[in-house]
Amino acid sequence: MAGTKYAYVRNFELPDPLLPDTFIVLRIDGHAFHRLSEEHQFIKPNDERALQLMDHAARDIMDEFKDIVLAFGESDEYSFLFRRSASVYNRREAKILTTVVSLFTSSYVFHWPKYLPAQPLKYCPSFDGRITLYPSPQSVRDYFSWRQADAHINNLYNTIFWALILQGGQTTTEAHVTLRGTVSSQKHEMLFSRFGINYNEISARFRKGSVLVREPVPKTATENADPPAAEGDKQEGKGASKKKTRIRTTVELYHCDIIGDEFWDARPMLLTE
Ligand code: GTP
Ligand code: MG
Repeated sequence: MAGTKYAYVRNFELPDPLLPDTFIVLRIDGHAFHRLSEEHQFIKPNDERALQLMDHAARDIMDEFKDIVLAFGESDEYSFLFRRSASVYNRREAKILTTVVSLFTSSYVFHWPKYLPAQPLKYCPSFDGRITLYPSPQSVRDYFSWRQADAHINNLYNTIFWALILQGGQTTTEAHVTLRGTVSSQKHEMLFSRFGINYNEISARFRKGSVLVREPVPKTATENADPPAAEGDKQEGKGASKKKTRIRTTVELYHCDIIGDEFWDARPMLLTE
């Protein structure tokens, strides 16, 4: 078919490779989730079921894309970090972005009934996505610090905002006015003195967001021990030297701090590979 007179139209399809040797960060964000959360009665300010559903979809992405080493989620968004050497789809931007956004969306819809069985979906949710390239480990760390700081600021605001309304009897307008100009310490104080809520005791999931990390699985004692050479293994030459040791990995979920050094110091591979 390549030789037909129509084939020239392919020349209009431009390549879109992502710069090599840079960190790919892909962020998806729920489209109009303010409405989706209202229409499906999400609990305010945080609905654990909806957040778990986001984590499930993100895990499905990491199961499919082995080059993703870390993901961070809050509210209706998730960010995915690909290792610097990632070669998935020859680093073609549109192919990577559209496949991830599409798989995330279908996973979100597919698993919805498990997490929100009493709220059948009324319409099709959708997500947008963008890819940004980061040139250095520091810029990657600053990116994730930015997202986790955002989660914290939003959560503190939303926690006191909804306490003023649901427990304090204020209207949304009154709550906005009450909070206008207040700094973080005043919000903590207001939460405690008016509603007896100690912010630091609120679930880490809400305060820190969700962190999914690809972790190496430690070898078992039997795997560590040198197996006795079987007849077939004694052979020397080409085949014998080609044995590959593949590190097994698993994806773990945490609700921990990723702004400080501790998380990254414990996992240098995230920023070196
Ligand atoms: P676009 O992303 O611009 O399309 O708008 P959006 O409506 O999705 O808003 P945005 O992404 O800025 O913020 C996400 C919104 O989702 C929040 O403002 C909330 O209204 C809603 N949301 C996300 N998570 C929860 C939750 O756990 N509970 C409730 N009640 N609402 C949530
Ligand atoms: Mg959104």
